[in-house]
Amino acid sequence: MTEDDRNMYRTMAEDIREVLFPAEMIQARVEELGSAITQDYQGLNPLLVGVLKGVVFFMADLLRAIRIQVEIDFIAVSNYSPESRDQGVVRLIKDLEIPIGGRHVLFVEDVVDTGLTLNYILGNLRARQPASLEVCALFSKSEHRLIDLPIKYQGFELPDRFVVGYGLDHREKFRNLPFVGLLKPEAFQSGSKN
Ligand code: IMP
Ligand code: MG
Repeated sequence: MTEDDRNMYRTMAEDIREVLFPAEMIQARVEELGSAITQDYQGLNPLLVGVLKGVVFFMADLLRAIRIQVEIDFIAVSNYSPESRDQGVVRLIKDLEIPIGGRHVLFVEDVVDTGLTLNYILGNLRARQPASLEVCALFSKSEHRLIDLPIKYQGFELPDRFVVGYGLDHREKFRNLPFVGLLKPEAFQSGSKN
């Protein structure tokens, strides 16, 4: 973490053990992903779909890096057990507003871990018969994958560790950090202070 980061995010920075992806590195990669999508979706008016809430930061930056007409929509899901990210049992609590039948859908995800959430959502979206359905994920923890899913646009590979920042939370905190880093074990166990 730079001295500037440490000063600016003082109360949050003290819970971060190590910055793995500085803000500039994330922004540069998002630009590259946006360029690739711009090339591949010329004339297709793609619909980008994300799951609230973690993806909103990535989604906002990715959209601005896409230089063709594009639309967005969101779904929300709830895990039956909020404490367990391994369970993979998800329930749709907010559906899309835009019909996707016949549309070119690009599903945008912040992090694909086991792949269970993504697998459920892709199945749900595929049943609505989009013209195409691809995945763009900023982070992937391939080592931890239980279901193999093709990710067409991928930002970075992550170690099998819990990270926060740039939308990723620990008990709803740390989403507003512009970088992505590892939490100190104390912060991970106690939950963050208010
Ligand atoms: P999956 O079903 O195991 O692939 O879980 C994916 C979801 O778990 C993501 O959309 C995140 O909400 C959450 N998640 C997985 N790893 C992390 C992490 O390191 N930090 C914060 N959230 C994570
Ligand atoms: Mg998420």
